[in-house]
Formats: sequence, structure tokens, C-alpha cells
Amino acid sequence: MLEKTYPYYLANQPQTSKTMMEVYDKYSGKVATRVAVPDDSATEKAIKAAVKGAGPMKDFRPWARQAVLQHCARRFEERRDELAMALCIEAGKPIKDSAGEVTRLIETFRIAAEEAVRINGETLNLELASRLDGYHGYTKRVPLGPVSFITPFNFPLNLVAHKVAPALAAGCPFVLKPSEKTPIGALIIGEILAETDLPKGAFSVLTLDGKHATPLVEDPRLKLLSFTGGQIGWDLKAKAGHKKVTLELGGNAACIIDADQEPHLDKVIERLVFGAFYQSGQSCISVQRIYAHASIYDALKKRLVEAVKALKAGDPKKKDVFLGPMIDEAAAERLEGWINEAHKAGGKILCGGKRKGNMLDATLMENVPSDAKANRMEAFGPFALLAPFKKIDDAIAMVNDSDFGLQAGIFTDSLANAMRAWNELEQGGVVVNDVPSFRVDNMPYGGLKLSGIGREGVRYAIEDMTEIRLMVMREL
Ligand code: SIN
Repeated sequence: MLEKTYPYYLANQPQTSKTMMEVYDKYSGKVATRVAVPDDSATEKAIKAAVKGAGPMKDFRPWARQAVLQHCARRFEERRDELAMALCIEAGKPIKDSAGEVTRLIETFRIAAEEAVRINGETLNLELASRLDGYHGYTKRVPLGPVSFITPFNFPLNLVAHKVAPALAAGCPFVLKPSEKTPIGALIIGEILAETDLPKGAFSVLTLDGKHATPLVEDPRLKLLSFTGGQIGWDLKAKAGHKKVTLELGGNAACIIDADQEPHLDKVIERLVFGAFYQSGQSCISVQRIYAHASIYDALKKRLVEAVKALKAGDPKKKDVFLGPMIDEAAAERLEGWINEAHKAGGKILCGGKRKGNMLDATLMENVPSDAKANRMEAFGPFALLAPFKKIDDAIAMVNDSDFGLQAGIFTDSLANAMRAWNELEQGGVVVNDVPSFRVDNMPYGGLKLSGIGREGVRYAIEDMTEIRLMVMREL
């Protein structure tokens, strides 16, 4: 199903290696393929090439950057089925969700292709007083230079795209380290980039482990580190020196269901099931905390439990399977432990709670103490808790009682409550009448508190990867 082996990419070129790393089919547990592992000198070579490539990338014209991005989008479209199957195998992501991620990959590159030709500046009026007569200001955005990216296992294509596509649009050469658990998506993107006329050194995709990725974090020649993953991101930021750092670090996303939602419960439940359990909850904006008004709590709970019990779990390659495996047994075991701990502390398991290997049941709980890990930390698995609230202010306080703040959702017919949520929820984004798991790839996406710093969403990432350069012109 997959190529026998995959090369890594150094300064735009595929590289073989004597050292190979196995990539597993996350459902069968069998070796699916092998990828070449760079030797110790490769990272230095990649950084040097990126530094050398910075000038040519800056001079690579916007229309040429756009053509590269369009080429990629076209080739992803042609290789759609192969990409979806690779994702399904390496991440254990159900084939329907894998196909959805390929669609988003294509969209992200298309958005970047459009943005590549509209990176603009401003005209500033500097004539604030008579002493400034004849002075005019103009800004443009210039690429930061060589940058580095570290990406996670849960969206091996689209979260790579969210770094690579803006870098190409902005004119920044990059060195990318994809997750060792799911490197294939990034390597296929590398293969397609290698078909283009990007300047030498424009990109390297290095299949490194965390230990060998230190220069991507610490080397001062790299001007920005963009990291998506867990809380370790904060440690990386502390080691990154003077470079810019953007972090997307997840959360324990919450969703409020207001008292007036009784007539819409079918739709609400359908979206909650999706938001909490699609790709086994392994998304930074997966619904983890559901706060329903006390007047509809019991009805919602009963119907939600029925819907979750009906989810089909199993082989992600089968079209009718909704719930596949978690990325590995350690991750499933960790969340199972949190569920058991919450249960011992008085939480009630409404459905699920059992694990076999890396397959964890879709699990719903209530009465989970607010200090339990299943409540406070990022579950990153097929788990959600329910709790009732009486007043919208209480629900807002419950959502805000979190160390994280990425996205939250609220289902309500009340414009006043929607506005209240938007104003008062400490979040990067508030989704009204849908789950926090909703994302379109041109949205600003990123969080507050421990959820990170900076925003992705192509245009916003381009802002991070460029800086403003001012010109002042005086009329003589
Ligand atoms: C994430 O897990 O951070 C990404 C979620 C998404 O792109 O839908």
C-alpha cells in the first residue's frame, strides 16, 4: 500500500541513507514502510543551505511562488487517494477523515497561492505637523529568512501545510522536522516540492528524532521556530534564543449548550459526537468539556450516550469505521489512567472506558472533579465530560476555569449570549452554533494561556514569517 522506502530531503534533493526508520501501520501494528534517517551532518548542511537559499528565495518573485504552490495543489489533487491511504495507515486516521484532511491540504496550498501575490504594505501619512511637510512613509513586508518547523502526528499533512505553504508564499527557506510517528505525509510533500523550480536550499525535510532536532530550536541562523505539539513547546521557546517562536499547543476545549437548544438537539448531538470523537479525539480542538444547561442536561446526556455507543470502531481503512486507534498504546494507556483516576475520585462513566492495545472506547463521563487530569489537562483522545450549569455566567466561568484557551463553542439562539461568549471567553476563537473543533484553513488559529502564542491560518503565519520594512521619503 505504501512505497517500500521513502528518502528524506536535503536542500531540495531526495537522500537515501544506510540508517532506516520503521513506520508502523497504527491499526495492525505491522511495519508499513521505512524512511531514510539523516546522518549527523545533515542538519548542519540543511541549515547552511537554507541560509544560502534565503537571498534567492527573497528574489523568487511572488508569481513564481504562487506557481509553485499551485503546482503542489494540483499534484495533491492527482495523488489524492494515495495521500489519504498513507495518512490512514501511518496515523490510523479513519479513511473518511484522511480524505477530508487531503481536501484541507489542497485548500491550504490554494489559500497560500492566493496570498503569495497579495503580501502588501501601507502608505503612511507622516505630515503630522508643519515641521514634517513633504515626508511620506511606505511599508512593505520582507521575508524573515531561514526558518524551522516541528510538526505533530495528528495532522501529518495539513499541519505541515500550515507551516510550509505560508513559508513558500512569504519567501522563507525552511528546515522541517515532521513527527517520527507519521513522517510520510511530509515526505510526499517534499517529493512534490522537489518537482518545482524552487531555489536551491528552499526546503529540507529531515526525519530526525527530538534529540537530533536541537539545532532547529537553538541555531541563531534560523529566524523563526514554528512548533505544533504538546507543552514541551514552552521548553523549546526557552531554548530558542532571540528567534521568533510561534506555538500551537492544544487545550481542553469546551462547548456550552444553552437552555434554548432543546429543539436543535439532533444537530447539537451530531456535532458534539463529531467534535469529541472524530480521529479518536486527537485534535487540539477536540471537544473535551460539554457544559449543558440544567433544563436540557438529562435529555442531552441520554441521547448523546446513545449516539456515542452506536459509533463503529475498528479498522480505519474501512469506510464505515468512525473510531480508529490512538497513535500508540502509551497514549491510550495514559488516557485510560486518567479516566480511572477520575472514576475513583467520584466521576461516573456514562459509556466506554475500556481499552484494548491502542484502541480506547469512545468515553463519556459526568461528575468529574474539576482538579482531575481528565478535566484539567489535554485528553487528546476519545474522551469528553459533561456537566450542567444554571446561568450562562456560570458556564462562561467553567470554560474559563482552564489553563488553556484555544477555541470554545457555544450553541445558543440568543444573540446576547453569543456576544457575551465572544467577549468573555478567554480563547483564541469562539464558534457560535458549532463545536470548537470547527476549523477552516484561512481562519486565524491559535490560543492564549498554555495553548500557545501566535496564529496560523496562512495569512497570519505569513505575517509571522515576514517583517515590516519602512521607507521614509522626503520631497525636496
Ligand atoms: C490541531 O490539532 O491543532 C489542528 C486542528 C485542525 O486543524 O482541525
